[in-house]
Amino acid sequence: MALPRGWNLFFAAKANPNVSVLKIYRMAGAVAECASAGEMLACRRAGFKSENIVLSGPVKTERELALVKRYGVRMVHAETMDELAALDKLGRRVNVALRVNMDVHMAPQKAGRVMTGGKDKFGFSPAEAARLLAGRQAFRNVIFCGFHMYMGTQIKTPAAWIRGAETFLRHMASISRAHDFWPIYVNFGGGLGIPYKEGDREFDLKKFAVGLKRLAAEAARDGHLSQATFQIEPGRWLMGPCGAYVMTVQGVKEMRGTSFALTDGGIHHALFPFRISREFPAELVRGKNGKPVPQILGGPLCTTLDQSDLPVRLPPLRAGDVIAIRNSGAYGFGTGMHYFLSHPLPAEILKDGARYFLIRKASPSAHLFQHQVHLSLGK
Ligand SMILES: Cc1ncc(COP(=O)(O)O)c(C=O)c1O
Repeated sequence: MALPRGWNLFFAAKANPNVSVLKIYRMAGAVAECASAGEMLACRRAGFKSENIVLSGPVKTERELALVKRYGVRMVHAETMDELAALDKLGRRVNVALRVNMDVHMAPQKAGRVMTGGKDKFGFSPAEAARLLAGRQAFRNVIFCGFHMYMGTQIKTPAAWIRGAETFLRHMASISRAHDFWPIYVNFGGGLGIPYKEGDREFDLKKFAVGLKRLAAEAARDGHLSQATFQIEPGRWLMGPCGAYVMTVQGVKEMRGTSFALTDGGIHHALFPFRISREFPAELVRGKNGKPVPQILGGPLCTTLDQSDLPVRLPPLRAGDVIAIRNSGAYGFGTGMHYFLSHPLPAEILKDGARYFLIRKASPSAHLFQHQVHLSLGK
């Protein structure tokens, strides 16, 4: 493993919050990073103990706070003054790391989606974080433990990730020194990229390990970080390559020189594998082989949102062919617009070696009516 000794691996539950998947991470010894009460409940069902759950997210409503109050968590990654004030009034002591929105901006060619250093809603600015530390004595129940950051997702190279992490670490060490603060918790977030299109390289774990070792050595030399624990919390890198999204071609057409394959899959099931501008690797599962040609996938929803913005490269498809979009294990089912146009929802199947397990039943229509309250209107 690339992590220096003593560093902790968290799993970002948002990448795939299916309880059976979470159980696997729990059994592997990971801590769960949750960003909602729903994810916290899923993790509890998967058997995570409170001390192995951390809570992130730009918004924590009463629901999240009620769970923190009831069960406790290992750490809350706080993002607003209002949240800190609410935590302080919760009636129990809460460990808090300040999420800091660093002035580190990953260039788009280095990352997929950037969440720091720009006009983004996340975290505290470094100056605000410093001010909070300066005034930390005013809090009664919030225990300031350290810092959290999340640079962005799909960071393609270890060098870019490490550079961002170094900047964060140095800045946090300097803020800590200035305010006589001794962090016990530094979380660098996730963001490790995976290859999508042909020719994309794997995130180089050897280089990552060298970079992390350098980071750990730098931290060890800094007296103010001598008590700190270090964590990273990937989602995509851990889960993306594990999954494939399988769909059946319902028809094909040409429109002004573009080939379309129309499918029963689409953004009603999984938004990201369909819409995000990444060339997800596609595979013909059942159908006639041939020379791959670019084809846009079109789902069943009546919106142009429901077509792939980039083509997949597959042999000319025909109705009845079955295709799979690989790398869909992260941000798949959870990102779908499950109710729009009232289509069926797919099953989720977990494969372990030669064994298959149903971990979510397909729902032809039951999900559509489950929470509706039907007016009788006299008849
Ligand atoms: C706070 C936080 N941690 C971890 C992750 C996981 O990121 P990734 O899947 O890019 O590793 C996310 C994703 O949005 C996040 O917001």
